[in-house]
Amino acid sequence: MSESLDLAAFPTDFTWGTATSAYQIEGAATEDGRAPSIWDTFSHTPGKVAGGDHGDVACDHYHRWPEDIALMKRLGADAYRMSIAWPRVMPVGDGPVNAAGLDFYDRLVDALLDAGITPNITLYHWDLPQALQDRGGWTVRDTAEHLADYASVVAARLGDRVTRWATLNEPLCSAWIGHLEGRMAPGLTDLTAAVHASYHLLLAHGLATRAIRAAAPGAQVGLVTNHSPVEAASTRPGDIAAATRMDGHTNRWWLDPVYGRGFPADMRELYGVDLPERAGDLATIAAPLDWHGLNYYFPVTVTDDPLGPVPYAREVRLPDVPRTGMDWQMDAGGLEALLLRLTDDYGVRELYVTENGSAFPDTVSPDGSVHDADRARYLEQHVHACARAIRKGAPLAGYYAWSLLDNFEWAYGYDKRFGLVHVDYATQARTVKTSGLRYAEIIRAHREHHA
Ligand code: IFM
Repeated sequence: MSESLDLAAFPTDFTWGTATSAYQIEGAATEDGRAPSIWDTFSHTPGKVAGGDHGDVACDHYHRWPEDIALMKRLGADAYRMSIAWPRVMPVGDGPVNAAGLDFYDRLVDALLDAGITPNITLYHWDLPQALQDRGGWTVRDTAEHLADYASVVAARLGDRVTRWATLNEPLCSAWIGHLEGRMAPGLTDLTAAVHASYHLLLAHGLATRAIRAAAPGAQVGLVTNHSPVEAASTRPGDIAAATRMDGHTNRWWLDPVYGRGFPADMRELYGVDLPERAGDLATIAAPLDWHGLNYYFPVTVTDDPLGPVPYAREVRLPDVPRTGMDWQMDAGGLEALLLRLTDDYGVRELYVTENGSAFPDTVSPDGSVHDADRARYLEQHVHACARAIRKGAPLAGYYAWSLLDNFEWAYGYDKRFGLVHVDYATQARTVKTSGLRYAEIIRAHREHHA
């Protein structure tokens, strides 16, 4: 497959990376001064996570990072998207800095750079210090200000070596899944809380952008958002209106304010919740960015659902379409479409695919190898989609596969595996899967093409 890939489409300096996040891999939940986050609380609450799983040990990356960096090298990846655990660095969110926590990331960054791997750091990938949740979490404005202070501490320490920063990962999930659907921490089901959380998350993004730039001049700051193209299930006006609402909920609510258009009027009306706005906030939220990170997994098709939950649009399960082990529709065309929408509609000037990948129930062969042909195919199809988007004008500068390792898949626990590298959680043995080998081939082919 890599022979037929349009390698020439990818710029010479195209970034090939892998991605993870702190709570999903680090473990060491109580070590060296780390305090609980909302995910420690949520995962230790009976019934919230499949199998009663939690991140106490996860992939034990906190102790095994040298081995994990060696794996990245083996794949030939030249970049690594990771997140920093706020409760490791500032255990109570706004209080004193925990030197041991910062030291961990300092060592990790140095080791990555020594290995020729560029770190791309996300400051917030959902692990809010529990102490801040106890004071209202994302439903209160103070949390946005605390994120900016924390960002400034981290950028001041690592900004001499790290240039690429993302403020937040997927604020949609924090707000909608965490505060409206209740399937993620903090597990609320309250529309007002969710809308206020969405506002404060975007405000936090804007404040942190400013704080990072002040602490680390030369920083390249971006935001990572997840999106799905939305189709109407039919040409009925009700379904078409439902698709517009779902697009507003999933895409426009997050992109319009960041790109200077304010919060979409149709969605404000639909939610019917007053935003906790203050003068100047919109300009803060719309601070020009150096890059945008797109996380893409699946498209959605919806039908009108007037009696259902906001946004009154129900996903329709299309028959006969390929699906991953998450039951997510596989459609690489959705990635191409979103990259072009960010380019043409929002005017993004530097783009990264910051996450893309698939979960499948892997089988470990008797010889220990993992032949994950489905995941390898998903990867190839989406890399092809990147090439097509670049040919059509998308300023795509890099692709980060989700994920380097099998890891704690939030409410699904350890049951769902997204890794290019298999993790045996009983022994912590790592095994590069067929998909990882295929990724290494693609990276090598691209390098040779431009040699
Ligand atoms: O594992 C998650 C990640 O933390 C955020 N984006 C989606 C991934 C797969 O569900």
